[in-house]
Order: sequence, then C-alpha cells, then structure tokens
Amino acid sequence: MSDELLRQVKVNGGLPAHVAIIMDGNGRWARERALPRPFGHKAGMQAVREVVEGALAAGVEVLTLFAFSQENWQRPADEIFALMELLEEYIAKEMAELKTRGVTVRFLGNLDRLPDSQRAAVERLMAHTGGGSRLALNICISYGGRAELARAARMLAEDACAGRLDPAEIDEDAVAARLYTADFPDPDLLIRTSGEMRISNFLLWQISYSELYVSDVCWPEFRKAELMAALRAYAGRQRKFGGLIQDMPPPIPEPSERRSGHGV
Ligand code: IPE
Ligand code: IPE
Ligand code: MG
Repeated sequence: MSDELLRQVKVNGGLPAHVAIIMDGNGRWARERALPRPFGHKAGMQAVREVVEGALAAGVEVLTLFAFSQENWQRPADEIFALMELLEEYIAKEMAELKTRGVTVRFLGNLDRLPDSQRAAVERLMAHTGGGSRLALNICISYGGRAELARAARMLAEDACAGRLDPAEIDEDAVAARLYTADFPDPDLLIRTSGEMRISNFLLWQISYSELYVSDVCWPEFRKAELMAALRAYAGRQRKFGGLIQDMPPPIPEPSERRSGHGV
C-alpha cells in the first residue's frame, strides 16, 4: 500500500474501527481459469494475508472475516475437505507471524462441527495468539447469523429459567452480550467481494448500521489497494444512525422554491 493512499485514508479521519468482509468469489475465480474450485480457495489465502497486513497498516482495530458459513456444510464433501485442509495449512503457516505482529485470532461459529484435527488447530491458534494488542482478527467458520441469534435466545432462556435473569430486564445489551462478538463493537464497514448484493446470513444483528461496500473483484484478487478503496469510500460516508446530522446549516432554498413558498 502506498504511503499516499494510507495518508489519504487517515487524513479523511473516518477510519472504521471494525471492518467485516464476506470473502466471496473463489469458485468463479477458479472457473474463469478453468481450474477446480479448491484452487480458488487456495488462492484466496493470499488475499487474507493482504487484508490482515492492510488492516494493521491502516490501524483498523477489529477485522472479521467470513470464511465458511453454516450453510456451506451443504457443499460437496470434496470441496469441504479441501477447505478444511486449507484452514489447517493457513494456521500452520501464519501462526508465528500473526503472534509476532500482535494479532489476536478468534474463531467464531459452531466449532463443534469441525473435524478433530481442524478443531485442535483453531484452538491452538487462539491460545497461541491470545493477548496480541494491535489487531483482533475474527474468522467466522461454521457460522450462521440466525443460528447465532437462536443460540443467544437459548442462553437467555437458560439464565431466566435458572433464576439468574429477570425476563423483564432482557434488552439489546443482554442479547449482544450473548453473541460470539460480545467483546467487539459492531462493524462500521461491511465489504462483500465478487459483486454479490446480499448478506448470506452474516452478522445479522451486528450490521444494523454498518456501511456497505461491494467490490466487483473476486476474493482471490482482493489486495491492499482494494481494501484502501473501501476505506476511502467509508471515509466519505455520512452515518446518521436514524438521527440527524448535527451542526449542519439548513440548505438554502432555491429562489424559485422561495417564491412559490412551499416547504416545511
Ligand atoms: C467464497 O467463495 C468461499 C466460501 C464460501 C467458502 P465461493 O466458494 O462461494 O465462490 P463462488 O461464489 O462460487 O464464486
Ligand atoms: C457467503 O458466501 C459465505 C462466505 C463467504 C463464507 P456464499 O457463496 O456461501 O453465499 P451465497 O450462497 O452466494 O449467498
Ligand atoms: Mg459464493
């Protein structure tokens, strides 16, 4: 990433604290090259490295990546097998570097469904990188937004039945505290690659006011420059959270509007 790009993003001021990415388009990238789909997933690992580096360079505090959805378990067994192998390969290759760079990795999702070997690998990476203070990297695996909300509802019900929680006190904070993301602020910016305009069951609760950015680039080709383009677009957004922008003078009516007197 050029210093100039980074300077532009920082000078604009609006750096998102939390960036979430739906990493999509691996299969299409492979198909365009007449390669089997797993080659696309493998090529996507370089893009993961790039966005982690980009997030560190820009000063993003939390990066949440959607790597494998609960619904992705429906894919053919050989594709799932290839993805699981790549997960282990990523962990083996990147563990030392992530630790050195001060990245704390967390895996979010129903990890019980992972095969034993991958389950052990993700636990190892989380334990090894715990305490890193520069970037929180969340990797969503076997993750579904609705399943996460159902799990939170189950936890609330258990607490209420056990007498630990008064149902009248269940509010938004009580729900948020029972999500995988309880320790993190909501994403400020949600990026999806490969041009698809949908959420695909990702962070349904947490993205209520996230700014959306869709890149046409397939994930294996996503680089720091694409991340910077998304950060620059974010810096130009006005977030209102349902309120009004304060300290902005009211617009001056056009002379024709003033004469005809309509308004308010
Ligand atoms: C995203 O790429 C990676 C996963 C969902 C695991 P896809 O595999 O969905 O690629 P496309 O959408 O078929 O191109
Ligand atoms: C979303 O992509 C899941 C991940 C990127 C891990 P999908 O490719 O599974 O989503 P759909 O099926 O196109 O909505
Ligand atoms: Mg896809």
